[in-house]
Amino acid sequence: MTGPATASQNSLKERLAVRGGQALSGTLKVSGAKNSALVLMTASLLTSDVVELCNVPELTDIAGMVDILRCLGVRVERSGDRIQLQADSLSSAEPPYELVNSLRASFFSIGPLLGRLGQAKVPLPGGCRIGARPVVEHIRGLKALGAHVSVEHGSVNAAVPGTQPRLRAAPIILDCPSVGATETVLMAAVLARGTTTIENAAQEPEVQDLAQLLNAMGADITGAGGPVITIRGVERLHGVRNYSVIPDRIEAGTFLIAAAITGSPMRVEPVIPEHLNAVLQKLRDCGCRLEIDDAGIMITPGQLQAVDITTQPFPGFPTDLQAPFMALMTVAQGTSVISEKIYENRLQHIAELQRMGASIRVEGSTAIVEGVPQLSGAPVTGSDLRASAAMVLAGLAAKGVTHVSGLSHLDRGYDNIERKLSSAGAVIERQDIRLTDKIKKVE
Ligand code: UD1
Repeated sequence: MTGPATASQNSLKERLAVRGGQALSGTLKVSGAKNSALVLMTASLLTSDVVELCNVPELTDIAGMVDILRCLGVRVERSGDRIQLQADSLSSAEPPYELVNSLRASFFSIGPLLGRLGQAKVPLPGGCRIGARPVVEHIRGLKALGAHVSVEHGSVNAAVPGTQPRLRAAPIILDCPSVGATETVLMAAVLARGTTTIENAAQEPEVQDLAQLLNAMGADITGAGGPVITIRGVERLHGVRNYSVIPDRIEAGTFLIAAAITGSPMRVEPVIPEHLNAVLQKLRDCGCRLEIDDAGIMITPGQLQAVDITTQPFPGFPTDLQAPFMALMTVAQGTSVISEKIYENRLQHIAELQRMGASIRVEGSTAIVEGVPQLSGAPVTGSDLRASAAMVLAGLAAKGVTHVSGLSHLDRGYDNIERKLSSAGAVIERQDIRLTDKIKKVE
């Protein structure tokens, strides 16, 4: 007997049909940040008290993290955008391979498991379509904190030697400002004996959000958001109520690009503008007027001009908006040079954009995009999460209908994107590809 299909199984049989050329209007609402929510959820492993998060987005990745935490013994209750997690009786320090493999961020549970229990065995997450995704820096950091770490049979085994399961603080200098490694070390060091410093730390807003949650739980962390973080270890952490996840800067950027690519004045909110400075500057440079207030951003697009992009760690231009911005540049006037510096294999969306009539040349990890007057709708596949979003954006601007497959990726990171875009005037719908005879208004 087969059970009910999961969201990701369903999304294999679904596609989005996007009819291009419709103006958008009104306000696009931004959900809580996926990459923050995922790591904040793992921070619940650090205390036996209740950790309550709100503004948690509705995503398959979040559902995957719930499954993993439940496997470890965490009690999880979800209601709307609110989630309560209580790790009062952890039953395992070994998340199963099948779950870790499908959700890379779950590897980050190694830090809190080790910090709380003194041991953890977490399967290596493996690479993914966009690149190798090593965890060398995570392991180096845990070793510096006194853990014995070995990699055997595809898993990372980490344990604090001796009778006391408490790590000891250390000065740590990361070779590269890895977001995941910074978060792993932060969560491991928070209960360690003494004061840890992380130099060359990732400065991403999600790292700041994690430090803020941990401080609300009784940790003593300063400097998060800058290149040096200081963590004074504490004996124990307590729970927290009503901690609100920051707005998703990547979703906000995607929506601003949706406005720009359709030439539609729109409001996007809530946004923390400092989280998006590099992207906002590029939008201004390519001809968009932005009015920023405390709650959000009003964007008024002009005639789009080509601009160059190089992806960098925060506060540089985020790799997660490279594909969406490339979609925008396909219809800008002039030539845009887009260099991907974070991941070695994150240009797979180019072939799909070319299917829609984009003019793009690739030289190594650089794309040279010659703007064309218009794209044309085509069947395309999103090869990863952000590539899928780029296809939807291109579809909004293209002549005719674009069918976007690969929705298992899109659903990992965009909370109900078609409902949000439809409510702003886009003609977009999710179709079951097994029921094409019943296909409806978009076609
Ligand atoms: C996080 C985000 C992801 C984003 C990425 C970069 C989550 C769940 N995901 O991923 O959406 O694209 O940051 O902004 O938060 N590296 C090493 N050695 C290591 C670790 C990383 O060389 O041990 C390299 C990677 O190959 C990559 C770069 O560092 O080139 C960035 O990776 P990292 O910051 O670790 O990304 P994630 O934390 O996995």
